[in-house]
Amino acid sequence: MPASISLSAISFKAGGKNILNNISLAIYPGEITAILGPSGSGKSTLLKTMISINKPSSGIIKCNGGLMTENIDDFRKDLGYVPQDDIIHQDLSVFQNFYYASRLRLPPSLSEEAINAKIGIYLRILGIEERKHLKVRKLSGGQRKRVNIGIELIADPKFLILDEPASGLDPATEEDLLILLNDLKKEKKTIILTTHSMEYLNKVDRLLIMMEGYLIFNGTLSNMKSFFGIIHSADLFKKIRDSSAEQWHQKFTASQFLSAAALPMGELKR
Ligand SMILES: Nc1ncnc2c1ncn2[C@@H]1O[C@H](COP(=O)(O)OP(=O)(O)OP(=O)(O)O)[C@@H](O)[C@H]1O
Ligand SMILES: [Mg+2]
Repeated sequence: MPASISLSAISFKAGGKNILNNISLAIYPGEITAILGPSGSGKSTLLKTMISINKPSSGIIKCNGGLMTENIDDFRKDLGYVPQDDIIHQDLSVFQNFYYASRLRLPPSLSEEAINAKIGIYLRILGIEERKHLKVRKLSGGQRKRVNIGIELIADPKFLILDEPASGLDPATEEDLLILLNDLKKEKKTIILTTHSMEYLNKVDRLLIMMEGYLIFNGTLSNMKSFFGIIHSADLFKKIRDSSAEQWHQKFTASQFLSAAALPMGELKR
């Protein structure tokens, strides 16, 4: 299976500093990939660089085989990006937010009935149907997050890219969000998210661990525990302090886990 997004030797420099160091990885279609790492390790920068919001200083990014670094406009419609901060209008209702996003992003020829039907489907999938006439500012954080996700889903992107979707959510709501993302996976969406939470890593397919701009691990949860020699994933952040980011990166590159990371997870489970 070809990778749907691939990064080859990507670096990103800003303010005279290397924020991303020589990162190579592949995102496979239909997987949920979670980017983890301490605050300031480069998670959001990696996400933004992956979808060409940041222009890399060097390296190549491909999307479905095409060169994304040169032709971002050809790929934009496939990318649904939900930044950490809300992008929805607080004084409009949930329905109005969906309606205006639909009018902006869907073909102008689409009828009112077709738009209403589409919005209805997403409100149901996201579990916010009963809240549709409420102003967004009256919603809880978790409900607002789901509206943000829905606004991106309306345009039916192939990729859903979420920066810290679980921040500010209680554990049960966070679990609901991951169940929702797994449902979207069944709709053939490829999902990439950043998180600080170690709680539901068993609900994602692939982990990318960042430290000081280096990719220090890429692979499954069980391989991650073997590589770092930990029993509980919660011990990861303490464990990575044992070596420098560059040392972990080199250790990972020399390990057996590097070649496993180059395969889609479905391939590994077979
Ligand atoms: N355009 C920029 N100019 C200068 N420094 C930048 C720029 N973008 C990111 N940085 C720096 O790069 C580092 C990584 O930032 P980034 O936002 O990617 O971290 P993060 O892992 O997402 O952190 P958090 O978990 O706190 O969200 C930080 O030190 C940040 O200040
Ligand atoms: Mg961030």
